Amino acid sequence: MRSWHPSLLLILMSTVSGRIIDLSHKHGPTTFMVPGFEHYNRTLVKTLIFNKDVAVETAVYSSNEHGGTHMDAPLHFYKVGMTLDNIPLENTIAEGVMIDVSDEASKNIEYKVPLSKIHAWEKQNGEIPQKAAVIFNFGWHKKFHNKFEYINTVTDDWRQIKIPSVSEEVGNFLYDSRDIKIIGVDTMSPDPMNTGSAPIHIKYLANNKLIVENLNATDSLPPRGFRFHAAPVKYVGASGAQIRAYAIVHENQEPRTKNQENRSWIILPTWCLVIILLFSHLVILL
Ligand SMILES: *[C@@H]1O[C@H](CO)[C@@H](O)[C@H](O)[C@H]1NC(C)=O
Ligand SMILES: *[C@@H]1O[C@H](CO)[C@@H](O)[C@H](O)[C@H]1NC(C)=O
Repeated sequence: MRSWHPSLLLILMSTVSGRIIDLSHKHGPTTFMVPGFEHYNRTLVKTLIFNKDVAVETAVYSSNEHGGTHMDAPLHFYKVGMTLDNIPLENTIAEGVMIDVSDEASKNIEYKVPLSKIHAWEKQNGEIPQKAAVIFNFGWHKKFHNKFEYINTVTDDWRQIKIPSVSEEVGNFLYDSRDIKIIGVDTMSPDPMNTGSAPIHIKYLANNKLIVENLNATDSLPPRGFRFHAAPVKYVGASGAQIRAYAIVHENQEPRTKNQENRSWIILPTWCLVIILLFSHLVILL
C-alpha cells in the first residue's frame, strides 16, 4: 500500500481543525501564588557544552501544585480522592461553554454568579451540554500580574482575600442538572476565599469532577462551540499541578440558531465528500 506524505496529511487535517486559544498564564518565580505557597523555583543541574552552538541543559524545579494555571485533583479536598496520575485523560477534555460575568464582577469584586445568570445564558445559547467544561470569565485574568488587584488584600492572610466567585446554587445546578465534568475560572477559586466554606470544591472533588483555576484569556472564548483541554502531567500522588489549558474552537463556532440546527445534518456528509474528493485527487498526484 502506498503511504501518505506527512505534509499532505497535515494540510488535510488543518482544513478540518479549528482555531486554538491559549488559556494559560506563564508559570515563573514571580507568578502569583496564594500567600505562603512556594513559588516556581528552577535550579540548573548541568549544562554540558558540546561546542559553541550546542549545549545540553537540565534543571530541577519545585512549585506548589496549586499556583498558576492549574488543575485540582480530587485528593486536594477529599482525603481518599483520586490523585493526578489516576485521572482518566477523557476527564480532562470536554466540550466547553463560556459564561461571561466580567461586567458584573467589574462592578462588585465579591460578585457571586447567581442561578438566574445561568438561566439567562441558556435562554440565549441553548442548554449547557452534558459532560461539559463550564468556564467563567470574570475578567480577572487581566489582573493576574497585579497581586493586589487579583486578591484585593494587602495582608498575607488568605482568609482576607476578596474575589468574585460562583454561588453554591450554580455549582449544584451544574452538577445535578447538567452533569458537567469541569468547572474553570479565571480567578484563584470558584469558591470565595473568605467565608470559611468551599461548597463547590467539596462537592466536585468528592465526585471526581475537576476544577481548573487561574485561567488566562477566557474573554477570547466564544459562548459555546469549542473543546476545552486541561491535561496535567501524571505526577504520582499529586493533589494538583500546573496545566497548559487551551481551547480549540469549532469551525462552526457561532451560537447555533434554529436554522443552523436544522441544517446541521448536512455538514458532516459535506465534509466527508470534500475529504474523499481531496484524497482521490491526491492518489492521482502521487
Ligand atoms: C495571558 O494571555 C495573553 C493573551 O494571549 C498574553 O498576552 C499574556 O502574556 C498571558 N499572560 C501570562 C501571564 O502568560
Ligand atoms: C530553589 O531550590 C534550590 C535547590 O533546589 C535551593 O537551593 C534554593 O534555596 C531555592 N530557592 C528558593 C527561592 O526557594
